[in-house]
Amino acid sequence: MKKLHIKTYGCQMNVYDSGRIAEILTPLGFALTDRVEDADMVILNTCHIREKAAEKVYSELGRLRTHKTRKEKAGGRMILGVAGCVAQAQGQEVLKRAPFVDLVFGPQTYHRLGEMVARTIRGHGAVLNTDFPEDNKFDSLPLARTVNGSTAFLAVQEGCDKFCTYCVVPYTRGAEYSRRAADILAEARQLVSLGAKEITFLGQNVNAYHGESPSGKTWGLGRLIRETANLEGLERIRYTTSYPADMNDALISAHADVETLMPYLHLPVQAGSDTVLKAMNRPHTIDDYKRVVDKLRTARSDLTLSSDFIVGFPGETEVDFEATLNLIEDVTFIQAYSFKYSARPGIPAAILDNQISEGLKAERLARLQALLNAQTLAFNKTSVGQHQRVLFERSGKHPGQLIGRSPHMQSVVVEADAGLMNAIHEVAIIAAGPNSLTGTLDFEKETGKKRACA
Ligand code: 5AD
Ligand code: SF4
Repeated sequence: MKKLHIKTYGCQMNVYDSGRIAEILTPLGFALTDRVEDADMVILNTCHIREKAAEKVYSELGRLRTHKTRKEKAGGRMILGVAGCVAQAQGQEVLKRAPFVDLVFGPQTYHRLGEMVARTIRGHGAVLNTDFPEDNKFDSLPLARTVNGSTAFLAVQEGCDKFCTYCVVPYTRGAEYSRRAADILAEARQLVSLGAKEITFLGQNVNAYHGESPSGKTWGLGRLIRETANLEGLERIRYTTSYPADMNDALISAHADVETLMPYLHLPVQAGSDTVLKAMNRPHTIDDYKRVVDKLRTARSDLTLSSDFIVGFPGETEVDFEATLNLIEDVTFIQAYSFKYSARPGIPAAILDNQISEGLKAERLARLQALLNAQTLAFNKTSVGQHQRVLFERSGKHPGQLIGRSPHMQSVVVEADAGLMNAIHEVAIIAAGPNSLTGTLDFEKETGKKRACA
């Protein structure tokens, strides 16, 4: 077998794509390796969303060039590929800045990787494929997949038609597309048979899902979740990322009725000021957002939220920024991702003339993160003394430790036998920090017996 190393940047969709890319290359004789030095093929699956993420790719390519040259000097070969959103947005530029790259392909063409690799091996020069082809990649991807542990991602929707003025996604991932429900259910069944206990449905606008049902009608995400929940052996369902204005009643009612739908939702609001939201081309107001949150919490009282925030969007005043802090105080997020606005090439907001200075963005980000971190810690502390069902996913730093996730996505560290991995266990939470909880196996709940002695 030849060795393949994939480095993934950015979002969970990229993690999903990297898994599928590895599967496409398996029949061509490539097996994954963690060691870039050993690899016969290296693929960088890239992210274009913020400048920092995109620039990382070019510095990594510089390092890889050294490996490639060393291999070639020793009479070997290393195929170097750039995939993902930087490849899509800057295909030609990638080849110009890094002419030693062999393959450049976007998120919608990786199902054709077999042909592309064959052309490179035959010495036809660099291959650039950033089309939005007519044939959909999902129809050509192999069904057989490996599941790494007990959790799996499943792309149900891709692309975006919303055109928020700060975002490159509509240009890199293309128009919104929903997969057929039967194909999704077949993939979910397959994942469960390979050991998945938890499936996370993915989409840039996952709750805009409107796929063809097995009887030719249209299902929304709520219906898809209800149907998937019937799969025997599937213990947890999650979905990400949602668009507030697409949070419909059918989906909200699934939160009330489907027990395996976890009570934790990533619902990016981006900013707490209606003026900024309007400039961002987000159609929801802060009142709309709060109404959706209220409905969700009425449907499922223990529902917790995470969000994305952008600070320093062009024209954001101190009053606008304080409105974001107020929103956070009002709603409460147990987790959040926050970013300084980054003027990406080609986005409408990049040409606005009221850009905010880097210094002010940094200062606002620090204030925002202090508040968000305090909310995370406060929530984690409320977990102490509770019993939680934890899905153990990986080994901890120290021998004899396992790390799992609570229903609210908190990391929980427990001293437990490795045999308990990839299953849900009852855990008593005994301590909480900003990033994780510590627990002990709940012997009584696990076995139904009292301990023989204290
Ligand atoms: N600058 C900063 N953050 C951005 N995001 C998207 N585009 C930008 C940008 N130009 C953030 C949004 C989105 C998350 C994935 O990345 O918060 O929800
Ligand atoms: Fe980007 Fe807005 Fe689409 Fe999300 S909804 S992917 S932020 S354009």
